[in-house]
Amino acid sequence: MKESDKIPSMDLTGRVAMVTGATKGLGYGMAMGLAQAGADIIVVSRTPADCEKVAKEIEMMGRKALSVAADVSTVKGIEKLVSYAVKEMGQIDILVNNAGIGITKKAVEVTEEEWDATLNLNLKGIFFLCQMVGKHMIERRSGSIINISSAAGLKQEVNVAPYYISKAGAIQLSKVLALEWARYNLRVNCVCPGYVMTSLNEKELSDPQILERFVKTISMRRLGTVGEIAGIVVYLASDASRYVTGAVFSVDGGLTLN
Ligand SMILES: NC(=O)c1ccc[n+]([C@@H]2O[C@H](COP(=O)([O-])OP(=O)(O)OC[C@H]3O[C@@H](n4cnc5c(N)ncnc54)[C@H](OP(=O)(O)O)[C@@H]3O)[C@@H](O)[C@H]2O)c1
Repeated sequence: MKESDKIPSMDLTGRVAMVTGATKGLGYGMAMGLAQAGADIIVVSRTPADCEKVAKEIEMMGRKALSVAADVSTVKGIEKLVSYAVKEMGQIDILVNNAGIGITKKAVEVTEEEWDATLNLNLKGIFFLCQMVGKHMIERRSGSIINISSAAGLKQEVNVAPYYISKAGAIQLSKVLALEWARYNLRVNCVCPGYVMTSLNEKELSDPQILERFVKTISMRRLGTVGEIAGIVVYLASDASRYVTGAVFSVDGGLTLN
């Protein structure tokens, strides 16, 4: 077999991945999955003790881990995070923009504060993290950025306007940056998970009636798991996807087929 006929490697040994919101839910699974594939991890959330706990777990796997408490909804927080991470780890090869929040409220009742909190993290924050880590990756002519949107970015629902709007924006942001940065060998892709029970939605999904209503909309008739979302992130971080950029991956049990 010729070298160019072989599937490129999924091994991430020697790569450094920054994962925002890595202490809970989907981000925790992504950080663990990337570490399992060999990457060193920069663990980011606003809560120092949680970051340190996850960093320790990663070190137990034989990888390097850097714990950084930062608020990635502000440009100031992002600047501090990126300069510290590059100083400590020397490089960032993979960026996973995962941290996100949502509110459930009628559109006519949404306040300016609620709109800003959602959009500042889910859209402004990921743009400026892409920009600052992107500059570093452009210099190195190498990098993979994975933005976590949602099935919410591809469909419509009532009482969730800021969240759905932010997630649709994250898809367009990923494609626009993919186009602008492809010439520098910097890839930008987007993942749209379906429902997975995490602290983001456990209040709602713990109600059996609400859960049943949600599950009925999923073609596979079940929620996803943290590990089922992490697999695509490891693929997109690795050389196995080195010809993939500007792509949007639904990992939602067929939710958006309905
Ligand atoms: N769960 C689902 O069903 C689902 C479906 C589709 C898409 N998603 C998307 O997947 C991503 C992760 O969701 P999840 O369900 O795993 O959420 P989660 O369990 O609530 O975890 C959110 C993580 O983000 C961190 N975080 C929140 N605000 C932050 C900020 N300003 N700066 C830095 N870190 C922050 C949290 O830690 P701290 O609070 O300590 O900062 C936590 O580690 C989100 O973008 C979400 O929209 C989730």
